Amino acid sequence: MAESIAFSKGSEKSIVYAELLPQIESLISGEPDLVANLANIAAVLKEAFGFFWVGFYMARGGELVLGPFQGPLACTRIKFGEGVCGHCFSTAETVIVPNVDEFPGHIACSSASKSEVVVPILDGDGKAIGVLDVDSDKLDDFDSDDAAGLEAIGALVTKLLT
Ligand code: SME
Repeated sequence: MAESIAFSKGSEKSIVYAELLPQIESLISGEPDLVANLANIAAVLKEAFGFFWVGFYMARGGELVLGPFQGPLACTRIKFGEGVCGHCFSTAETVIVPNVDEFPGHIACSSASKSEVVVPILDGDGKAIGVLDVDSDKLDDFDSDDAAGLEAIGALVTKLLT
């Protein structure tokens, strides 16, 4: 297993996501344990982008339960349909929130979080089984490059599970 990742520091986000994708694929492809793989994905994203908070919530027993993450401690459980994560999970659609104060029902795990992007993690049938959530302490910090990059990473997880 590689012990480090390589990426062009300071490059456009889309370039960094493209550089990370094959490295994440090779990192997780030989390892069958989901928790171990999600933990390393969170670590890679934190290292490459310095995100304030990045991590997974996975469906367990009828609600979303905190999974591997990097950043300050976070809410442990989120009901389906609630908050940005629950909304993303229930619709199985990516959500970009430029200002969390303007998202009805946003769950403030940290008052420092100002903007957020959440992508669904899908099973092989396209059904959501969890979400990948990234938070920023700056307003309007995420765009379609983040959505596309994070969705591609989510697709690697789907591939692993099928
Ligand atoms: N803000 C999220 C909750 C999770 S944390 O931000 C880590 C939400 O509204 O679903």
